[in-house]
Amino acid sequence: MKLLVVYSSKTGNTKKVAMAIGETLGVEPVAVTENPSPEDYDAIVAGFWVDKGTADAAMKAYLQKITGKRVALFATLGAEPDSAHAQQCLANAAELLGTGCTLTGQFICQGKVSEEMVAMMKKMFPEDHPHAMTAERLARIEKAASHPDETDLLAAQAYFADWRKEWLAS
Ligand SMILES: Cc1cc2nc3c(=O)[nH]c(=O)nc-3n(C[C@H](O)[C@H](O)[C@H](O)COP(=O)(O)O)c2cc1C
Repeated sequence: MKLLVVYSSKTGNTKKVAMAIGETLGVEPVAVTENPSPEDYDAIVAGFWVDKGTADAAMKAYLQKITGKRVALFATLGAEPDSAHAQQCLANAAELLGTGCTLTGQFICQGKVSEEMVAMMKKMFPEDHPHAMTAERLARIEKAASHPDETDLLAAQAYFADWRKEWLAS
């Protein structure tokens, strides 16, 4: 059975997670920019970085092209992975999948928010704006700065080791 691990990553966080998952699944992850044909695979593990509450544009377009496959998603984001926002981001991405796909798993962890992004947010949004750089938001970004860490990568590997067992048994 052929398995594809495909990922989109702007600053490297999601790529790190993809590489860890690929190691566990015994496949070399492919960047979405290489545009692998979904038709060539039995199951697809697709990873994205969260951009404004959903998958980034490149993975958004790719997810829409997948039809009739078993798909598992993974992602990195700046917010807490157990937040409602994180769950919503995964749900938003799952909705993009083409017809006949079955969602078979999902994993999300934090990823460092780039310094450019932090600087841009500080500059762009006034204090009363919903995206303003509040102390709370800054604390969250600082917490994300060390991620994905070794614990995240091990958690991703454990999750996908189980996922693989279920896939092979199904
Ligand atoms: C333009 C932009 C939009 C983002 N939007 C969100 C968001 O809506 N929610 C969130 O939690 N993190 C958001 N982030 C943070 C990224 O999802 C996070 O840093 C991610 O780990 C980056 O992954 P990468 O290194 O693979 O590109 C955003 C980052 C950028 C640059």
